[in-house]
Amino acid sequence: MSEFPAHLFDEPDPDPHTLANLGPLAGLAGVWTTERGLDVKPTADGAERQAYVERAEYQPIDPQMNGPQLLYGLRYHLRVVKPGEVEMYHEQVGFWLWEPATGTVTQTLAIPRAQVALASGTATAEATRFAVRAERGMTGAGICSGAFLEENFTTSSYAIEVTVNGPDSWSYHETTTLHIKGVAEPFLHTDTATLTRIGQPTPNPLALADGG
Ligand code: HEM
Repeated sequence: MSEFPAHLFDEPDPDPHTLANLGPLAGLAGVWTTERGLDVKPTADGAERQAYVERAEYQPIDPQMNGPQLLYGLRYHLRVVKPGEVEMYHEQVGFWLWEPATGTVTQTLAIPRAQVALASGTATAEATRFAVRAERGMTGAGICSGAFLEENFTTSSYAIEVTVNGPDSWSYHETTTLHIKGVAEPFLHTDTATLTRIGQPTPNPLALADGG
């Protein structure tokens, strides 16, 4: 008799070629830039609009299993600057994951403000538009902030809509809802950009070992 439930350790035998199994995330794989994104951010004087330039990499990872659960995904890193500047304006790392068995899309994100989120949604494998969402306080798809942000910029939700425009372009629109201490109305911190391909993805290690 096994010590833990045997079916929770029963792993499938996945196709090693992640790039062929990304479902709706396929259009995000690669290296990207945007000439102009638009950030609406909070400042002491209220909302301010700021154009930005983004560079991003979305690279396939080896198939990930949680026992019987199979996830295909991309590891991403994006860095945003103001046009013509070097200094980091926004930086983010995480994974986009696709679970073919349930049609679930999950984004994990971490930003160096001491904040992480896990956002989730559903889509079909062929979808060219999809959305994921996280809510503060939810364990399945939530947001966790450090003590300073939690007290002064309480982040109640995060949502992103992705549109794949074609093989070499995709767009996103995201809304992060902030409750700034002492301000009655919630603040909608939004970011919008269209990314253009500057590089192809590198196949995941297991796919390369299997012949590319
Ligand atoms: C391209 C995407 C984004 C850009 C360019 C961006 C940029 C900014 C900027 C410039 C501020 C104003 C405060 C400052 O100057 O430091 C800000 C505030 C904030 N952002 Fe973002 N942000 C982005 C996405 C996100 C996301 C995805 C989250 C969380 C899910 C987030 C969470 C926050 C929070 C909590 C604040 C308030 C803290 C503060 O004002 O110092 N941001 N963001």
